[in-house]
This record gives sequence, C-alpha cells and structure tokens, in this order.
Amino acid sequence: MIEIQNLSKIYKTKNDVVKGVDNVTLSIQKGEIYGIVGYSGAGKSSLLRCINLLERPSTGHLTVDGTDLTSLRGEALRLARLKIGMIFQHFYLISQKTVFENIAFALKAAKIPPKEITKRVESLLEMVGLSDKRNVYPSQLSGGQKQRVAIARALANNPKVLLCDEATSALDPTTTKSILNLLKKINEELDITIVLITHEMNVVKEICHRMAIMQDGRVIEEGAVYKIFSNPKTELAKEFIASVVSFEIPESIVNSCTGPIVKVTFRGKVAGEGVISDTLQQFNLNGNFLHGSIEYIQERPLGIFVMELKGEKNEIQKALDYIEQRDAQVEVLRDGI
Ligand SMILES: Nc1ncnc2c1ncn2[C@@H]1O[C@H](COP(=O)(O)OP(=O)(O)O)[C@@H](O)[C@H]1O
Ligand SMILES: [Mg+2]
Repeated sequence: MIEIQNLSKIYKTKNDVVKGVDNVTLSIQKGEIYGIVGYSGAGKSSLLRCINLLERPSTGHLTVDGTDLTSLRGEALRLARLKIGMIFQHFYLISQKTVFENIAFALKAAKIPPKEITKRVESLLEMVGLSDKRNVYPSQLSGGQKQRVAIARALANNPKVLLCDEATSALDPTTTKSILNLLKKINEELDITIVLITHEMNVVKEICHRMAIMQDGRVIEEGAVYKIFSNPKTELAKEFIASVVSFEIPESIVNSCTGPIVKVTFRGKVAGEGVISDTLQQFNLNGNFLHGSIEYIQERPLGIFVMELKGEKNEIQKALDYIEQRDAQVEVLRDGI
C-alpha cells in the first residue's frame, strides 16, 4: 500500500542543515496497522508528513496505493491526498464550528452535494460514537471526544490510509485505550491501512502488527511487533520494550544472589511456568524467581521469567540446554559466583 524507498528529507535553515529523515526504506502492506516509534526528534513526524506530501521528500521514491505522489502537482495531488486521512496529537478542530460542521467541512472541500453530506456526517458520527454531540462546539468536548471528531473528519472522504501523528499522546490511559480500540475497529471494518507514530511503546503493543524504530532520521530496527518484543536486536528497542515490560532487579537483590541469574523467554505459550518447574525438578535445582510476567501482544502470549538458579554447576548447564530445546530462549544475565 505504501512503498517508501531511500527517502530523505533535508531541512535547510539559515545556518543549519538538518536531516529530518535519512535514507528510509519501508514497505507498509494493505490492511495493516504499522507503528513507528522513536524519541522526540527521531524524524517520525517528518517521515509521516512525507507520506501525504505535507512535506515534499528531498530525495527518494514514494508510492501510495500504486501512485507516485511526488510526480503529482495541483489538482491531481489534491485528489490523491483525499485518499489519505490524518489525525494529530492536538486534534486541530475549528473552534467556531460545531462537531457536524467540522466534519462536513472536509466533505464540502471535496465538493460533495449537501444532501449527501448530511447523510455521510451522520453515519461517521455514529461510527465514532458521537451522534449525540452533533451540534456542540469543540470546547464542550473532552480530549477523547475531540479526537473522535478528528477521526470522523479524517475518514469523511473514504480514505484508504489513515496517518496518526501521536494521536493519543495528549490523552489519559483509559481514553488512549478507547481511541486505540476505535482505530482497530476502523482498520478491521473499513479495511483502512493505518500508520501510527508514537513515542509510547504500549500503543504499538496494543494494536500494531508491524513496527519500525527510528533514531536520528533512520530506521534502525523493523519487523513484526511480536518478534521485536520477543527478540529485540538494538539497545533502543530493548529500552522501548523496558518501558512496557521492565525486568529491572534492584542491585541489593542481585547482590544477595549466589547462583547464576537467567532470563527465560517463552514465545506463544502460556505454559512456560510448567516447563520451568519440570526442568528444576528433573535436574534437582532450586529456582528463585526474581521477576516474571506473561505479556499479551495482540492476544499472543509472551512469557518472560528471571530467576536465580541454585544447584550443581553441571546440572544448571544441562537444565539451560534442556529449556532451550523446549523452544524457549535463555539469556544468562549474570554467571554464578
Ligand atoms: N520544518 C522544519 N525545519 C527545520 N527542521 C525541522 C523541521 N521539522 C523537523 N525538523 C527537524 O527534523 C528532525 C526530526 O523532527 P521530527 O520529524 O519532528 O521528529 P519526531 O516527530 O520524531 O519528534 C528534528 O531534528 C527537527 O528539529
Ligand atoms: Mg513528531
């Protein structure tokens, strides 16, 4: 659906040249929810704005639904852009217009006849759950409701792609969840491809199928969300994951351990604890659990356990080999003393 090839965006200011996006190549499939994470200044917004040509890429290629947007100008570009909706952190509703008028505005701009506009706005309001707010002004709405209006407006012209720039960053956790659920529903029921940028890894964990991690304008890691959570390659990926699933153990606790400390990761199985207790028994070891959790990444479990192992050194090694054969991943965090 979206093919980005060697795309760069260079900003030239009076006395500086900044590479907002540095040679990014990404392929986003039709029907997926794709997350892009990174800290502030990583280049996420610049990349997203290049996708609908709010920013013109400095170099590289970009096609959306088979059309090379960079080759279009004027009316042709305006029409192509109707197929790409966008929402933002700060909603950008028109404060002097009612909810109805805010959404209708997008349809008027696309020259839709008034009768059709009323019907369309009503069905959009129903979809985002705001039929009863039709005639109120944005100032009378909560943050979550404002974002729902912005979503309805972004969907007004039946786009194929929805771009979300930190769409939940101004919202509390409960409202964030409800907006993410709405995005998921839009993705599934309307078959709209969603590209979502965020600095919050929990947002990605909640609804994205695949993801990219950006740093200094570049994509440094990319792939299925589950794969990145279960086997992160870069330090930055590990850092983002730790913001959702932290396995930090206080130093005083580590110091009080005498055996090796290991981290065992089970993919796609809730039965991880069973394997661990079987193994401990079989090799006559004691396990002292220091941390443990089963995370669900879109309903697929990922079990991670950190423990100190006590027993015969040889038996510990055999046990670790045995666990690995059971399709788990073992990482020795600290060797025994
Ligand atoms: N219009 C602009 N003019 C100059 N520099 C910009 C402009 N927009 C973004 N940048 C710079 O590009 C880099 C990436 O910014 P941005 O895409 O906003 O990152 P993010 O969305 O990840 O926070 C930053 O160094 C930022 O200062
Ligand atoms: Mg940004």
